[in-house]
Amino acid sequence: MIRNISFLFLLSFGISKSSNCQTNTISIGLGKVAVTFLLDKNGSPFYSVSFNHQPVINLSQMGFALKDKDSLDSNFKIIKTDTLSFDETWQPVWGEVKNIRNHYKQLTVHLQQQSSASILLNIIFRVFEDGVGFRYEFPLQHNLKYFVIADELTQFNLTGDHKTFWIPGDYDENEYAYTTSKLSEVDGWKIPILSNNPKEINEPDEYAVQTPLMMKTNDGLYINIHEAALVHYPSMQLHVNRQTFSLSCRLVPNALGDKAYMRSPTITPWRTIIISDKATAILASKMILNLNEPSKIQNTSWIKPMKFIGVWWEMQTGKSGWNYTNNPDSLDAHGNLVPNHRHGATTANVKHYIDFASKNGIKGLLVEGWNTGWEEWFGNWYGHHFDFVTPYPDFDVNAITQYAKQKGVQMIMHNETSGDASTYERQMDTAFRFMNKYGYTSVKTGYVGNIIPRGEHHDGQWMVDHYLRAAQKAAQYKVMIDMHEPVRPTGLYRTYPNWLACEAGRGNEWNAFSDGNLPEHETIMPFTRLMGGPMDYTPGLFKIKGYSTVPGRQVHTTLTKQLALYVTMYSPLQMAADLPENYEVHMDAFQFIKDVATDWDDTKIIAAEPGDYITIARKAKGTNNWFIGAITDENRRNAAIPLDFLDKGKKYNATIYEDAPDADWKNNPEAYIIKHMIVDASTILNIPLAPGGGVAVSIKTE
Ligand code: NOJ
Ligand code: CA
Repeated sequence: MIRNISFLFLLSFGISKSSNCQTNTISIGLGKVAVTFLLDKNGSPFYSVSFNHQPVINLSQMGFALKDKDSLDSNFKIIKTDTLSFDETWQPVWGEVKNIRNHYKQLTVHLQQQSSASILLNIIFRVFEDGVGFRYEFPLQHNLKYFVIADELTQFNLTGDHKTFWIPGDYDENEYAYTTSKLSEVDGWKIPILSNNPKEINEPDEYAVQTPLMMKTNDGLYINIHEAALVHYPSMQLHVNRQTFSLSCRLVPNALGDKAYMRSPTITPWRTIIISDKATAILASKMILNLNEPSKIQNTSWIKPMKFIGVWWEMQTGKSGWNYTNNPDSLDAHGNLVPNHRHGATTANVKHYIDFASKNGIKGLLVEGWNTGWEEWFGNWYGHHFDFVTPYPDFDVNAITQYAKQKGVQMIMHNETSGDASTYERQMDTAFRFMNKYGYTSVKTGYVGNIIPRGEHHDGQWMVDHYLRAAQKAAQYKVMIDMHEPVRPTGLYRTYPNWLACEAGRGNEWNAFSDGNLPEHETIMPFTRLMGGPMDYTPGLFKIKGYSTVPGRQVHTTLTKQLALYVTMYSPLQMAADLPENYEVHMDAFQFIKDVATDWDDTKIIAAEPGDYITIARKAKGTNNWFIGAITDENRRNAAIPLDFLDKGKKYNATIYEDAPDADWKNNPEAYIIKHMIVDASTILNIPLAPGGGVAVSIKTE
């Protein structure tokens, strides 16, 4: 990684005291963003944030309640402040852009509690041109060595009843459909359950929501609240006060009801507030990534973004199954398991997928249901279902490995844990050694169901530690990792670039086993779930209707919108989710999936409004080729796309995959037109998007 520190200098700030001589106030700003810290007359820490001199966060409380110790919320004195400016441009191992500027001003306030224990607490603020991050630091101190956080008292006091895109603050589940409402209307217990949302809400707080929380003020300001570098700490939910519009940090508890076990010296994750008067700037923000540490992996040459197909959608839609037998307890006369003849991961079927991938230049193949344990994996909270190394009798791992190698296809391992992280921790070395032995360079993990250790939650401190251990263990074995059902990402992929993607949100797969995702869904996800990192959304469904035996079930997009998602839903790992036979009847449209890149030198967010539309253009890594995706919600729209990012004076070949004039997601979703035209930097494409539709464009040099 090339790091270029252009300047770094230290400043020191004076502390301006208020008239009663007990209030200390310090402000720092960068561009339009400013943050103010103060201690009130009780010595309680507060902060506020403004954009363009307008308040965004009114004075808000900071601090902690500790278990069996005095609270760290008052009686503080400022003993020192430090400030610094930082401006660096760095290059990610993979990403949306080649160069990332990390430009901020930092203020560290060193506090000491005026008590016999004299507890030290530092608060670090970083102000960027597009927002503010702050975190707490506990210096090494004898009076606070081991301690337990009972609550983090951080608040975000908003200035009005903003429009909000939210899902309920569930401890274990992030796969909800988004509700758009005023803050005063947030109510996690009254969201539509139907088959459209998870059945059990594990959310004791009716008014808690998950982050990243996207909001828009009446004045057209966009505000996104999330966290960065979530390490050894529970994830943050936000309790909404529907009268005052104050959001309070709610940490996900552990099995005992405690929040976080700490030892000084230590730090908490960053609280992030991204602000802009342009929705496009929210999507372009690199603040969360910048608040994470540089890669801890020295040699990253083995980390490679890719597209993949999977023996997967056929299971999701019921054509085949994960399990080899219907009853693992009954054996035939020869002592063998009795096959149900519905098993998807057979050697013959896998070879068929390898052939398709190889023929079409798709690099990876995921196979689910290859290992024993799928008969009773779900919903028993028993554990020990999987050992991650024992194939079913009809999955010949040696033969498949050889065949894949011959055909130039990389097999992707699947390790579903059924929420049993304890067993996975014990088996991880064995599992990764198996991957190394058979040449699997990446793994998809999964955490469906209640967590073991029992009482722990998906988003609590124990599991946050577990996901990181899994990513680190994968790195040790040079394996790339994609996690399903983990905590929501917080930019840690900068530090562990083998952590390519996560699900941690409502993927395309919900169209298989529920009423599905509404047409607006993919216009909200980049503003919410994707703010913390790439999502394995599994785009590319071509058979939009008739894939399920359940009447009425369908994907809520047109076919070309599925293509556009390869650009609008950023991930270095992109699945072509549908079955080979469904691609084979639309090979002209499949060409876009073959062509589209997974790693980029540049990204232009051309137009965006959460809940309505998104248009993004990206330049493929190391080439002069561009790919564009534009999507709309349920409304018909026109996408105006100026190609002024192309090299001036150069001609390019554009291929446009657009909705047919009579297409719409509900009645005619598979109708598309493919057009070819010569374009240059002066071209403005004007493309009609059907209701629930989209357009994908590939632009290559002549
Ligand atoms: C849920 C995952 O999201 C899905 O992709 C996977 O097929 C199942 N769990 C089984 O592991
Ligand atoms: Ca899932």
